[in-house]
Amino acid sequence: MNEHRTPPGPKGRLGLRNLFGWSTDQLGLLTGLKARYGDTVQMNVFGKPWVLVSHPKDIEAAMVKHAKVMGRDAYITILQRTLGQGLLTSDGELWKRQRKLMSAAFTPKKIATYAEAMVRVTDQALRPWRDGMEINLHHEMSRLTMEVVADVLFGAGMSKADVETVSDAMEVINEYYANSPEAVVMLPEWVPTPRHLRLKRAVESIDTLLYRIISDRRSSGETRDDLLGTLLAAQDDDGSGMTDQQLRDEAVTLFLAGHETTALALSHTLYLLSKYPDVARRVHEELTEVVGDRLPQADDVKKLVYTGWVLKEAMRLYSPAWTTGRESTADVEIGGYHIPKGSQILMSQWVVHRDPRWFPNPEAFDPDRWKDEASLPRYAYFPFGGGPRVCIGNHFAMMEATLLLGMVVQRFRLDLLPGERLELKPSVTLRQKGPGLKVRLFERERVTQQDQRPTVSAA
Ligand code: HEM
Repeated sequence: MNEHRTPPGPKGRLGLRNLFGWSTDQLGLLTGLKARYGDTVQMNVFGKPWVLVSHPKDIEAAMVKHAKVMGRDAYITILQRTLGQGLLTSDGELWKRQRKLMSAAFTPKKIATYAEAMVRVTDQALRPWRDGMEINLHHEMSRLTMEVVADVLFGAGMSKADVETVSDAMEVINEYYANSPEAVVMLPEWVPTPRHLRLKRAVESIDTLLYRIISDRRSSGETRDDLLGTLLAAQDDDGSGMTDQQLRDEAVTLFLAGHETTALALSHTLYLLSKYPDVARRVHEELTEVVGDRLPQADDVKKLVYTGWVLKEAMRLYSPAWTTGRESTADVEIGGYHIPKGSQILMSQWVVHRDPRWFPNPEAFDPDRWKDEASLPRYAYFPFGGGPRVCIGNHFAMMEATLLLGMVVQRFRLDLLPGERLELKPSVTLRQKGPGLKVRLFERERVTQQDQRPTVSAA
């Protein structure tokens, strides 16, 4: 390697134009940079190098080979304002210890035990759904995944009112990261802007609730099999467990990382099913064959092969994480270029999942492309990130998404209301713009006869 070979990219030392592009149209900016400059692109933002890495082998290098010299990027670091030093935002020895302790709650055996709660909560939540009803897709999925995380995390320790409190606070937190200039320019949080004050109140309301639940659980001495129980019991080699503050940080992290992402995976999948009735019909047929009329369970998930492809394909087109970042803590070589210490490294699922080299006809929604998954290069598809920092909730999310999607499709067909269009708003996650898509529900027994509509051909 030529030590000083800098990746190509737009000129400008300070990068104000890039910052403007970033704050107005992140997806367009990243797509345009890749199209114009190739697999490795460098731009400056506030005088700092930002490097967009889009070749799977280079993504693997950044996430796996160089993992030891990759810290949290600026975008994740700003989440510390709400998540403290939870698993997503911490680094170094603290992260290593926490990852080990938390892994106990995410073993395949544990995840299978959460399936019962996932199904029970969903069954309850779907009961008020009626034939002909209009629902806001993302609101419903968000409420549902929030109730699932709350139940799996705290069991009966959280009332409906508590879940509402957390949901409201999470909405303020998401709104802060989605829309605030404060977050884009990283204005210190002590500056008393109205958004900072709202954020502070939201965090306080969650803290009061979580510390109460943690303290009740500790003082009762009760051992429970929910996620909090596992975290309370988890001990390091020296016998020490987590402090209340650490438990709080991990619980807020699991709420934030665990509910919005899965809700988006589901609402985007259901949106696509409403546009592709042939695909919806095949999912329904598979469910009828594997599950029939009963409630699904953990063991069914691996048998729902086509449903799994549908979820994967929806998460390819609309990956809830549209970019994953790292900050280099040493000089490294990536893609044959010299990447200096302190660079923000961006790996964008939005860009890579649409690369025709790995996904021919990339804009088409084609679940059957997953038949031949073995031929896909590693890291051409990475909705859950990768390397040691890969999403700890990966298998939890796929179990949850398959069960919840299955239960919705078992009971209903969803039709997009006329005039509804998917418009995206990248925030921490890839959200929908505005109030969110509305669909009409059609109960399954009533639709089997009329469910013979032709397929629409574009995503
Ligand atoms: C479809 C759903 C989900 C998607 C797309 C998703 C995606 C991601 C991504 C891209 C990362 C960053 C990985 C990296 O930096 O390489 C991540 C990290 C994380 N996710 Fe998820 N996630 C999902 C569901 C969940 C669930 C259900 C939970 C917990 C119940 C969860 C908890 C976490 C945590 C704690 C981290 C930080 C891990 C670490 O840095 O050690 N996620 N997730």
